Amino acid sequence: MEDLRKEIERRRTFAIISHPDAGKTTLTEKLLLYGGAIRLAGSVKSRKSKNYAVSDWMEIEKQRGISVTSSVMQFNYDGYCINILDTPGHQDFSEDTYRTLMAADSAVMVVDAAKGVEEQTRKLFNVCSLRNIPIFTIVNKMDREARDPFELMEEIERELGIKTYPMNWPIGSGKDFKGVYERSSNSIQVFSSGNHGQTTVNSVKGSVEDQVFVDLIGEDFHKQLKDDIELLDIAGDEFDMGAVLRGELSPVFFASALTNFGVEPFLKSFLELTSSPLPRKTSEGEEIDVMSDDFSAFVFKIQANMNPQHRDRIAFIRICSGKFVKGMEVNHYQGKGKVKLSQPQQFLAQDREMVEEAYAGDIIGVFDPGIYSIGDTLTSTNNKFRFEGIPAFAPEHFARVRPMDTMKRKQFVKGITQVAQEGAIQVYKELHIGMEEIIVGVVGTLQMDVLEFRLKNEYGVDLKVERLPFRFVRWMDQEDINLDDLDITSDTRLVKDLRDRNILLFQNEWGISWALSHNKGLTLTDVGKVD
Ligand code: G4P
Repeated sequence: MEDLRKEIERRRTFAIISHPDAGKTTLTEKLLLYGGAIRLAGSVKSRKSKNYAVSDWMEIEKQRGISVTSSVMQFNYDGYCINILDTPGHQDFSEDTYRTLMAADSAVMVVDAAKGVEEQTRKLFNVCSLRNIPIFTIVNKMDREARDPFELMEEIERELGIKTYPMNWPIGSGKDFKGVYERSSNSIQVFSSGNHGQTTVNSVKGSVEDQVFVDLIGEDFHKQLKDDIELLDIAGDEFDMGAVLRGELSPVFFASALTNFGVEPFLKSFLELTSSPLPRKTSEGEEIDVMSDDFSAFVFKIQANMNPQHRDRIAFIRICSGKFVKGMEVNHYQGKGKVKLSQPQQFLAQDREMVEEAYAGDIIGVFDPGIYSIGDTLTSTNNKFRFEGIPAFAPEHFARVRPMDTMKRKQFVKGITQVAQEGAIQVYKELHIGMEEIIVGVVGTLQMDVLEFRLKNEYGVDLKVERLPFRFVRWMDQEDINLDDLDITSDTRLVKDLRDRNILLFQNEWGISWALSHNKGLTLTDVGKVD
């Protein structure tokens, strides 16, 4: 029991969010470097050298140079056990990203010092703020020409609606980047780029009043810094730990991930300021005690064919309470009862490792024989519940899909079902005089390309994709409705989902209003209930 508590208390599980190119991959790599998980930076990902990290499983990612799937990495640092959830930044993969964020207890938001808050930062931030998790900010690339730091703080506050508290403050930027002033210790840390960020660096640090440091950064920068500090102290927000934990105040760190500058001070401070995993609620509102002896977890991601050599399928689970032991049998509430969690794995840079045990806060991948869906609960008790807040999204792009070769119908259905279970697409059935047609709905159009690509590569099926003009999907809540009497516009289509629930596909808002006003008692919801 004591061991369980100790293990859970040293866990920190967080996601790194950013707009593409702000430096998420670089930061992840540097954190792994400080954690001793990799020896030389450059091992995680280098697009140019065509070395790909765990986050680049799929061939399509290589072609497009983007990270489609999210990955998880664990390492130890200073007695803490850290789980980093990498989230794909590309806008078309937001659905997967959103779900990944459900598995995190806090988030680190990387902002490019020259660009400030960008589109994707905003979207991801909004999801994090829905759950009120602590959000830390790194203003990255200080070794490049940056915008005025006061202006950046103001932009974060205005655009994202969160207060900021700079933990440190930059002295110059770009070729004039001299270092940072650390507010808690009233000291200056002088910038040194070390050996181009390949290995960890130790930089010189000392009191802001020390003449040596005045000389090191120069009179003008020192004077500017003193003015800035005064302004920060007078005009800035107070540091309020409670507000940080409620996600209302974001501690901000200025850094240069590429050169490693500021990465370790950030990590230390972050670990101190964040808490170990907190209790999660069930959809009924009950709190599940993290420290309980009973194991509980939920599936937040399913990934098939990660390794082209072995046709495998892995369900990523976030442990919410208790301890996991290899080979343990648990109840799969939304499935058919007991399952053995086999081939449990954790991920580190390029390697996957078998795990013997894992604790609340950890994320592990377990072998999925095709039984799990996103949001499923696994428990060691007979308690039946679901964890709250796993979002479902309404697709906005639709297409009718068929196999080019009708003889491949079986593989086609298998492939489509697989991708649907992973949560990447939604599948609807349309009945055409005896023949069942499949319509798929996706949130971003790139997912349609991924579907085509995967069916061809993993199932040997060439797809015929006929894009459809629908833009909205609505579930009909009533089970007893007489479908023959349904009064809908001619451009509205009635289909069913895989659970045989009735769904309407609309081309415009007008079609929705028509359906609602012409069918007494009809109610529509924009995401299907998960159970
Ligand atoms: P992402 O995962 O958020 O998309 O960003 P990533 O880390 O891949 O960084 C995007 C680009 O910005 C990379 O350059 C990276 O080297 C650079 N970068 C990241 N952090 C810093 C920093 O602190 N300072 C400076 N000057 N650059 C930084 P690239 O040329 O696009 O790619 P690469 O060939 O260097 O990998």
